[in-house]
Amino acid sequence: MPSGFRAVEITDRVFWVGAVDFGLRNFHGYLTSRGTTYNAFLVLADKPTLIDTVKAPFGEEMMARIASVIEPSKIEHIVSNHSEMDHSGFLPEAIARLKPSKLFASAQGCDALERHFHFGRPIEAVKTGDSLDIGGATLKFVESRMLHWPDSMLTYLAEGGVLFSNDAFGMHLASSERFADELPRDLLRAEAAKYYANILLPLSPILTAFLGKLPGFGLDIRTIAPDHGPIWREDAGWIVERYAEWAAQKPTRKAVVVYDTMWGSTAKMARAIGDGLAAGGATAILMPLDAAHRSDVATELLGAGALLVGSPTMNNQIFPTVADTMTYLEGLRPKNLVGASFGSFGWSGEATAHLDERLARMKIELVAEGLKVKYVPDGEQLEACRNLGLAVAEKLPHAE
Ligand code: FEO
Repeated sequence: MPSGFRAVEITDRVFWVGAVDFGLRNFHGYLTSRGTTYNAFLVLADKPTLIDTVKAPFGEEMMARIASVIEPSKIEHIVSNHSEMDHSGFLPEAIARLKPSKLFASAQGCDALERHFHFGRPIEAVKTGDSLDIGGATLKFVESRMLHWPDSMLTYLAEGGVLFSNDAFGMHLASSERFADELPRDLLRAEAAKYYANILLPLSPILTAFLGKLPGFGLDIRTIAPDHGPIWREDAGWIVERYAEWAAQKPTRKAVVVYDTMWGSTAKMARAIGDGLAAGGATAILMPLDAAHRSDVATELLGAGALLVGSPTMNNQIFPTVADTMTYLEGLRPKNLVGASFGSFGWSGEATAHLDERLARMKIELVAEGLKVKYVPDGEQLEACRNLGLAVAEKLPHAE
């Protein structure tokens, strides 16, 4: 039946049957400026198998794409690599309509899917090293705990060397192109880095360990098919190398200065600090929070060497926008940073002390005690701000 939607051929037996969400702007707090995709894949074999589904509102589109290749009721198996609802939202409906004979997930995935959907049907648990003969083709499973949830796993199709990597190696990027080699490398780098910084950064040690173990699984990976963004059919090693690089969090001479301001004083301090950083040979990235989203700050922090945070004191507290960003950044657990706080105040001035506590809790090495200015900074106080910038620049690593 005509539907307007078609599957996209990935290999002779793998078809993309997902959906592109050009309108998504908020992925649990992450500003997805370029939308996203929910990739699902149909593997053709004697027992046709669907790998993941899509966010619930896009289910009909997925069904139509499947129907452009095979009669949907022929699907024998569904593999759920991850229970988060951007991949499983349509799963209950897909089960009801496709009536697969078996459903597979990791052990944690079985529990998570049941707790999400309460559908009370058995799900077969698979673990690293398990294989599934789907009739003329073989799937292998690799658990990837915490990439991005405890239930996450990867599925590998030996025929063609396709790794269905779920969240790993993905990005939030809506495009009409399905393959990474059809898109500019700078765009891929920027969106993959943003995704890494906002989704995977706190899991960097786990990722590093996982990448170390990956060759031991004996997979001949020729294509990486993540559940978000384009598919890597050429040069799949490039995205794996970027992940290894970002996970290492090697500091550079980039300093991120994030701040908000009530009447312009903290902003003035930030600009003088930026001047000092630049004079000290650092790259200063000033991010006023009325212009920058918390997820853009997280992205800039990837590969930075310093984080400086400025906040006026309001009602004895950190300014709300700064507190929001700090809560977000603390959860992302950036590593290998030096830092400092600064801000103006009227009568009590607690914000910098609160910020210093938070920076210390984040294991950020404080270069100096918080620099605060009563009301509006004068020339001498701005000079002190500039000197703070110079002092931070001094602490940054020099090029090898
Ligand atoms: Fe794309 Fe963790 O879900």
